Amino acid sequence: MIEPERARRLIEAATASRANSVSHRSGFAVGAAIEAADGTIYGGCNVENSTYGLTVCAERVAIWKALSEGVRKFRAVAVVTGADSPTPPCGACRQILWEFAGDVPVVSATTNGMRKMYRVSELLPEPFDF
Ligand code: THU
Repeated sequence: MIEPERARRLIEAATASRANSVSHRSGFAVGAAIEAADGTIYGGCNVENSTYGLTVCAERVAIWKALSEGVRKFRAVAVVTGADSPTPPCGACRQILWEFAGDVPVVSATTNGMRKMYRVSELLPEPFDF
């Protein structure tokens, strides 16, 4: 569960990060935000480059930023896109979220105001754990 006010703050942060998206290849701008256990929010955007394959999703940029600051406990994630309806994180991001954030709520929102809630365990029911 994520309280409405926390969800609102996370979506706001993800929307702000989305403005920095480097998505000139796909034209699909994504923003993400991850909330640490102490309430600090780390934002990220997707970053594309000329090889395409080295693209990093917004969710992973956000979590890499937090991990690189020493943060290890997380409470929730938000993703914001300009799609017609909310989109869940891609498969690679699901694995990373599971490993580093655990079974946290994921709120996916669109710039036109739609929202959908998931949990990581629902998005990745049989995770690889090692
Ligand atoms: N993308 C994300 O940033 N997050 C997702 O959950 C799905 C996809 C990015 C990768 C690429 O830059 C663009 O969206 C189109 O796939």
